[in-house]
Amino acid sequence: MDRTTLLAELETARRRTRALITSLPEDKLDVPYHPGVNPPLWEMGHAAFFYEVFVFSLLDGTPSYDPAMDELWDSFHIDHTDRWRRDLFPGREETLAYFDTIYDRVASGIESKTLTDAELYLYRYSIFHQNMHIESIIWCRQTVGYPAVPDFQPARIAPGAPGNEQYKGDAVIPAGRWLIGMPGESGAFAHDDFAFDNEKPRFEIELPAFAMSKLPVSNREFMAFVDEGGYERPELWSFGGRKWLRTETDIALAQGVSEPLIQAPKQPVYWRKQDGQWQQRLFDQWQPVNLDAPVVHVNYWEAEAWCNWAGRRLPSEYEWEAAALGNRPGEPFRRFPWGNEPASPEQADLGARNMAQNPVWDYPAGESRSGCRQMVGSIWEWTSSQFFPYDGFRIDVYPFMSTLQFGDHKVTRGGGCATSPNLIRGTYRQAYLAQRNDVFTGFRTCALTNA
Ligand SMILES: [Fe+2]
Repeated sequence: MDRTTLLAELETARRRTRALITSLPEDKLDVPYHPGVNPPLWEMGHAAFFYEVFVFSLLDGTPSYDPAMDELWDSFHIDHTDRWRRDLFPGREETLAYFDTIYDRVASGIESKTLTDAELYLYRYSIFHQNMHIESIIWCRQTVGYPAVPDFQPARIAPGAPGNEQYKGDAVIPAGRWLIGMPGESGAFAHDDFAFDNEKPRFEIELPAFAMSKLPVSNREFMAFVDEGGYERPELWSFGGRKWLRTETDIALAQGVSEPLIQAPKQPVYWRKQDGQWQQRLFDQWQPVNLDAPVVHVNYWEAEAWCNWAGRRLPSEYEWEAAALGNRPGEPFRRFPWGNEPASPEQADLGARNMAQNPVWDYPAGESRSGCRQMVGSIWEWTSSQFFPYDGFRIDVYPFMSTLQFGDHKVTRGGGCATSPNLIRGTYRQAYLAQRNDVFTGFRTCALTNA
């Protein structure tokens, strides 16, 4: 990776983060409390602070910008609810000034000398961390029902509905040995083999043949389950799913109403029925459910119940990776379904451009060798796998990247519509608790019988 590319990634992260903050009027900076989001100004300060901790203090011991703020920007030192206390934090202009000062320092650090691989790794790590927070600021806008994010440009023309059956149905993935994950030790660790701790080390696995749907589950397919009373049929839900199904919560924020609305789940969280028609909320707009688009904002329990209703199952994360990348031992390793070039807008719905609004058969240029579409982008795909470290896991530079999620989270794969294109690759593992439906999660399925 050359200096120009690194600086461009830094400036893209700066520009997109600033746009997400400055596009909000002052009164919208105080987002309603929700356990799945953070106040946007806190996210901005926190991500700037991350560069201070993981670049400046590690590389040259630069003292922090404001030592009094260090604990408040650090996610492990401040309670979640305290992030809403405006009396503890600077306002927008001061936070932007802090953010820009740090970004200027990072930029001059990159420009001032030739970076060693170890230094490049830390710079890239911190820029990727910013991009993770760009995704969470975007889902915050959806959670609290704010206007669409500046990157949203729903202008892409989808190809017409495929008349050809080859785009539908299952891809058959043959039995055999597959390579999973990124190398634990690599001379290219700061470059092509950059990976987070949980994707390492690489290993081989033997899988029997299986059949996986070429396309993600669409809203049309999920709606049939809702309309056939799927949420009233406990036999379709697992023990954990039934427990979630009985849990009443206040869904006023999700439904965009001002009075408390205490309900157990009856449909996807951002759906409502209006005059006999299903509608979905995208940011602050209610629209008819986009039938051909992938279902999004469903949690693990909903995905699992849909599978039980349809006579299908969720893939394991290894099946998912074998279908997406198809890496065999002894062959050149591919990081994306299409090869090794990072995603282009023709290949995947990333970067909040289309927000999973295009049909499930779109993005033919991003098809995997097995014939599956949208494996990268559009939706984070639920797998049946519990999030555990791979054998030989080692804690990386940031000890809390994965360790707090191991055990009780489910693995999702592939990145979603709000994921930054530079962040995602086919080996990337994102962990979410099974009940999360506020994030950009959907799913695809496998046939119950082996292919
Ligand atoms: Fe963070």
